[in-house]
Amino acid sequence: MITINEHYLKLQASYLFSDIAKRVAAFQQANPDKEVIKLGIGDVTRSLPKACIEAFHAAVDEMANDASFRGYGPEQGYDFLRKAIAENDFQSRGADIAADEIFVSDGAKCDTGNIQELFSQDITIAIPDPVYPVYLDTNVMAGRTDMFENGRYKGIVYLDSTKENNFVPDLPKEPVDLIYLCFPNNPTGSTITKEGLKVWVDYARENKALILFDAAYEAFIQDEELPKSIYEIEGAKEVAIEFRSFSKSAGFTGTRCAFTVVPKECVAYDRNGKSHSIHSLWNRRHCTKFNGVSYPVQRAAAAVYSEEGNAQAKELVDYYMRNAALVRKEMTALGYDIVGGVNSPYIWIDGKQDSWAFFDMLLNKAGVVCTPGAGFGSCGNGYIRISAFNSYENVEKAMKRIKEALS
Ligand code: MLT
Repeated sequence: MITINEHYLKLQASYLFSDIAKRVAAFQQANPDKEVIKLGIGDVTRSLPKACIEAFHAAVDEMANDASFRGYGPEQGYDFLRKAIAENDFQSRGADIAADEIFVSDGAKCDTGNIQELFSQDITIAIPDPVYPVYLDTNVMAGRTDMFENGRYKGIVYLDSTKENNFVPDLPKEPVDLIYLCFPNNPTGSTITKEGLKVWVDYARENKALILFDAAYEAFIQDEELPKSIYEIEGAKEVAIEFRSFSKSAGFTGTRCAFTVVPKECVAYDRNGKSHSIHSLWNRRHCTKFNGVSYPVQRAAAAVYSEEGNAQAKELVDYYMRNAALVRKEMTALGYDIVGGVNSPYIWIDGKQDSWAFFDMLLNKAGVVCTPGAGFGSCGNGYIRISAFNSYENVEKAMKRIKEALS
């Protein structure tokens, strides 16, 4: 008899964004004449930078010719991309990351979801609340939690991120082994200072813990003083893995390209306390389960680091940040307490009511899709998240409709 992984039965009915998509589809079916503006899932709407498109086309042409055709590439990514990443994203900011510490992949979602496979079943895991649901769900699937009760899984150390701590969690009160951090934060848009991040790095070093640092939104940081990478903090290379993505920074959500940095100094321990290189373990997993991102996509991603590509990607980020400023302005004028939207494409709004009720109201009365904060954890209840990823015209229209709906 084939039996199932019963840990899947502990999961909430469906993945947050699938749940929202279902509700929106039902609304559209019932109201075919109503135009819906989507400010829910953080999916980009503008086309790829011109430099990426040109590199993409040129690489496809190479594939059309036997002499320049490429079959399987290196699982970890082509050198041209790994080198460009290491130099531009890390070395240029004083972070000593080498090209062979970069693992190119098809998404930060997959990498942040898969990385937990390397660690033992009985570790203690700290996860912020609210946060991107993938960290929690993948640990539930792996059997590292007990049942879901009163809005939380037993067996997880939740790191509350609330108004009181400026949406930057405090160190856990009990010892933990694996810590997820996400800055700029999804969903709150909050950021962490170098001093704040150092507290976590020091904690991890003192406790032989590991930090999984999701920096998928670093391109949206406007404040020069804020760290873009955890490796800007001394000692982080021993205790942190970082996740990045081209999805939001260069419009690659449909093209798929991301990367994970696993420094060679990073170790985890066996039951006898002997240390092992996480780089070697991740490399082993990557080579076994992944065959690399396609050559044209990697060429397109590498073009982000050319002079034109860099300027065009920055223009994309600036465009969405102008939307974020508009959402901030309008929602503040409506009397809501908000955070985010300054160094992040997400605006976190205290709706002062149940977040699914607020979601339904905005959908039904304004035809605007947001993301209910409760979907990111119990500390998100009462909040909604508005994403800046849409055209400026649509964001303007959405704000006008929300104003009318609330008046
Ligand atoms: C979000 O809306 O939180 C993100 O788009 C989800 C993702 O990147 O997978």
